Amino acid sequence: VPVAPFDLVVFGATGDLARRKLLPALYHRLHDGQMPIEARVIGAARAQMDAEGFRRLAAEALDEFVAPADLDPDSRRRFLATLDYVPLDVTKDDDWQALADTLGAPDPERPRAFYLSVAPRFFGVIAERIAAAGLAGAHGRIVVEKPFGHDLPSARALNQSLARHFDEGRIYRIDHYLGKETVQNLMALRFANALFEPLWNAHHVDHVQITVAETVGVGGRGPYYDGVGAMRDMVQNHLLQLLCLTAMEPPARLRPDDVRDEKLKVLRALAPVDAARDVVRGQYGAGPGVASYADDVGDADTRTESFVALRAHVENWRWSGVPFYLRTGKRLRARMSEIAVAFKDPPHSIFAGAGGRAGANVLAIRLQPDEGITLSMTVKDPGPGGMRLTPAELDMTFAEQLGGGGLRMPDAYERLVMDVIRGDQTLFMRGDEVEAAWRWVDPIIAAWEERGERPALYDPGSSGPEDALMLMHRDGRRWREIS
Ligand code: BG6
Repeated sequence: VPVAPFDLVVFGATGDLARRKLLPALYHRLHDGQMPIEARVIGAARAQMDAEGFRRLAAEALDEFVAPADLDPDSRRRFLATLDYVPLDVTKDDDWQALADTLGAPDPERPRAFYLSVAPRFFGVIAERIAAAGLAGAHGRIVVEKPFGHDLPSARALNQSLARHFDEGRIYRIDHYLGKETVQNLMALRFANALFEPLWNAHHVDHVQITVAETVGVGGRGPYYDGVGAMRDMVQNHLLQLLCLTAMEPPARLRPDDVRDEKLKVLRALAPVDAARDVVRGQYGAGPGVASYADDVGDADTRTESFVALRAHVENWRWSGVPFYLRTGKRLRARMSEIAVAFKDPPHSIFAGAGGRAGANVLAIRLQPDEGITLSMTVKDPGPGGMRLTPAELDMTFAEQLGGGGLRMPDAYERLVMDVIRGDQTLFMRGDEVEAAWRWVDPIIAAWEERGERPALYDPGSSGPEDALMLMHRDGRRWREIS
């Protein structure tokens, strides 16, 4: 469904995120007929260039980050024609005036959004300038990228600086995991089917495992990442959001605040974690042809973690006693993200001596790659050999099932940017959610800092440090394979 013609101002438009994600996402939306050619995307950044220069930069970004099969010359040309550019130093009045002139007066019929793809220290000043110049009108929206704070006090300060100029209903905090197709599918799976919800509780679920494994190292992001680490970079936002969507109660409706209220309740129900017992931090060492984390960030003494595994509990009626195991890391064996819900074994087995083992039903929702859902079952081994059990999988790979093999999975940013234009906040984090997540994460980080220990080293290409395996073995459980 096409959205209304809109004006989108992208601060930091020459940066990595804009080139890799935003511009390609907008291109796809135009190519698919959702972004009208009357829309305008106005880049704003410090670099001195004109609209032509920005179009060249965008053209290069499309050529690099859009698959050649999807790059249609006609759509590419029409997309580039929607771009404009204003050089902007946030401290200069003249530059803001130039932006105001380019934008023109706000028009209530024409959605307007300001996308802050810049470091968080600029959020406050940009929001203030937008408001002071009257650029947002009564309906303009502001979009901010992570990191949203470094801890609870800094997140609060950011929330307050935005709240001075924008109502919560106009603030869009991006967690791009919420825009991933399969993450939204988790809601469809749970609430559009009657099959799973009756089993989705402590009576039937043994435990939940959430894994976000990456093969990449920190690459050129060392200076940012080394002051942050996996707990702040991934767990506080992406993994906790996945946990929330898995554990939340059914919202009464699919309205933004109904969904976000339910997620907030989950965050508030998270039990405090014993950092020494329930959390493992790791850092990748060197491997054949692969530099260690310490070498990547150029600090032999760095204590930043590139891996975290932990055991959490959601203390409410539905989940009491069910562990949620989370893990994420860089330089692991494979790129794999999934949510796996492991169900309890049948109460009694009539198949003694039948080989295999009854039970082990696991519902795995695979975020990437090969998005899809699998249900592990125990079935009879085919053949005349009598009753022998064997594991098998019901496998629904979305690209095959839903797109005849040729389905392109839209990138998270495509959905999220269009939601901003439509004014739908369902897939964006509310200020109180972000704060609740920090409130849970902060004591874990504080405990690490107090102990001052180094993270356990793990081999690149492995599944993480031994201790992470122990975290589950101790409970008589195992991590699923990273593959
Ligand atoms: C980002 C993190 O938010 O998510 C990165 O800052 C991480 O460190 C990335 O690599 C992972 O996103 P995706 O979509 O590639 O799984």
